[in-house]
Amino acid sequence: MTAFELTRLLPADHFAQALRTDVRQGLTAPTKWLPPKWFYDKRGSELFEDITRLPEYYPTRAERAILTERAAEIASVTRAHTLVELGSGSSEKTRLLLDALRSLGTLDAYVPVDVSESALREAGRQLAEEYPKLAIHGVVSDFTARLGLPREAQAPRLVAFLGGTLGNLLPAERAEFLAALRADLAPGDALLLGTDLVKDPAVLVAAYDDAAGVTAEFNKNVLNVLNRELDAGFDPEAFEHVAHWDAEQEWIEMRLRSRRAQRVAIPALELAVDFAEGEELRTEISAKFRRDKVAAELATASFALRHWWTDPEGRFGLSLAEPV
Ligand code: SAH
Ligand code: AVI
Repeated sequence: MTAFELTRLLPADHFAQALRTDVRQGLTAPTKWLPPKWFYDKRGSELFEDITRLPEYYPTRAERAILTERAAEIASVTRAHTLVELGSGSSEKTRLLLDALRSLGTLDAYVPVDVSESALREAGRQLAEEYPKLAIHGVVSDFTARLGLPREAQAPRLVAFLGGTLGNLLPAERAEFLAALRADLAPGDALLLGTDLVKDPAVLVAAYDDAAGVTAEFNKNVLNVLNRELDAGFDPEAFEHVAHWDAEQEWIEMRLRSRRAQRVAIPALELAVDFAEGEELRTEISAKFRRDKVAAELATASFALRHWWTDPEGRFGLSLAEPV
């Protein structure tokens, strides 16, 4: 059986330092915010998996439907030897790509990249059993800091960025991310990009404010991360989960609304943060796209959109793009 290899790409103290910088910056800003990557400790990664099975959360099922339909075509167009996946999480839908590339006989290695070491280890353990001939090289990294494409990864490479995670970056962050990714790729490589699409706001809001309260727990989990890592004094129950559709920006904004006026101590930063009653902390944006916007953002980063597929209900888009 192939051993699962794990590399930590960033210096040992990178995440501890980055969390401190982000929390200080975000919680002292006039409009408070936190980057969404801090949701994904072990519990957060499990909660995200629970979200993917909720009746209201359609993106995972919609993207899986497209991949089921198109995986063989993606394999034959790309003939990838290495599949790199950014923000791979459980790698659940990825099996469709792995199977198609394995059937074609081109695939040598799978490189899942994620900020969540627990998710990478769990996925790696299972995949090593299911794909005994495949080299699986997990990379713990922040794809906004360092992408983590291994130089030795055999070309042609297919980089998959699924689930709509690109939409969790702000527009300027997306542009920077796509340009950095393009710089790491060579002719013959390809990018497979999943993007959630603009639709009825009621459907969107329900997907981010489910009846069972799983998304609310996921959202509040970031406060548990701050309590554990920074010895902070957040009471998650003192905050209310909010999912807001911003029609102008065309993104869902997840927020935590303070139920009362409160002061929260963050001893590791020697900081006390005041929240007014009703004050909101933005924890995530989840941008929704149209085909033209995806094509334009790719073009700005010197990628050409070669294929665009949606699920039968037109809820989710999957793009196959090439460096130009
Ligand atoms: N691709 C999977 C998981 C999506 S959830 C799917 O489609 O279901 C988003 C994943 O991206 C999580 O596993 C999270 O840990 C990871 N992630 C979020 N921000 C990241 C970052 N900046 N760098 C690396 N991984 C990140
Ligand atoms: C990972 N990402 C694409 C998810 C999304 O839909 O934006 C994260 C999520 N947030 C709330 N529910 C799911």
